[in-house]
Amino acid sequence: MVRPMAERKPLIVGNWKMFHGGASGCELAVELRRSLADIDKVDLVVAPPFTALAAVAHELDGSRIQVAAQNTHFEASGAYTGEVSCQMLLESGCSWTLVGHSERRQHFSDTDESVGLKVKSALAAGLLPIACVGETLEQREAGTTLDVVHRQVDAIIDAIGESSAEPGLTTIAYEPIWAIGTGKVAGPEQAQEVHAAIRARLARDSTQLSEITRILYGGSVKPGNSASLMACTDIDGALVGGASLNAESFANIARSSG
Ligand code: 13P
Repeated sequence: MVRPMAERKPLIVGNWKMFHGGASGCELAVELRRSLADIDKVDLVVAPPFTALAAVAHELDGSRIQVAAQNTHFEASGAYTGEVSCQMLLESGCSWTLVGHSERRQHFSDTDESVGLKVKSALAAGLLPIACVGETLEQREAGTTLDVVHRQVDAIIDAIGESSAEPGLTTIAYEPIWAIGTGKVAGPEQAQEVHAAIRARLARDSTQLSEITRILYGGSVKPGNSASLMACTDIDGALVGGASLNAESFANIARSSG
């Protein structure tokens, strides 16, 4: 299992969402492998759709780019039609999994409770979870951003505490829903404020957990805004959607983050 470094090495993750199946996913993987070959100051992960995982992992084998799933089920096996377990993801060449992305919370009934179960199950299986949190536009306008994010983060902290995994293996991604796919990026101060609040929340549980947990920002990250976000004290990387579908823009984001 990959161990995050104590100094929070930047982590850039490309979430391909429901784009790039096996054939085009492999083409993108080959391009990424070439474009990112000289980048060693950041950890790099791509999250293709389930059907492309094994083929993309094969293309990236031996490179510095690792593979994540976009979701997992919390049971090890069973009669759960259409679901995939952590062990199956490991067998497909994944070492990471996204958990609780806002699109899963919005459209596929992920809740704080199921997100917690998925984090625990990933840690138990030896998959590194990237657990997502973030507020809607209405919640931001109502001034409840930190209440919402604290509630979501608390479920993740409880899951980490209940697992016997060492701290630092879980990454948290702050993705304000109003910034996803809208071109409306959170300003660095806006993002830093929430990241600092998440780190303070982690510190209530354990200073070590707060110091070594990587907190990524996601929501309209592009080559033109990534450097100013990455310069913030509590932003340790990015979860990139649209701009990760093109090798050059993903490589430029990674290059600006090291
Ligand atoms: P965009 O970068 O397309 O806004 O998507 C963000 C996201 O949801 C990454 O998980």
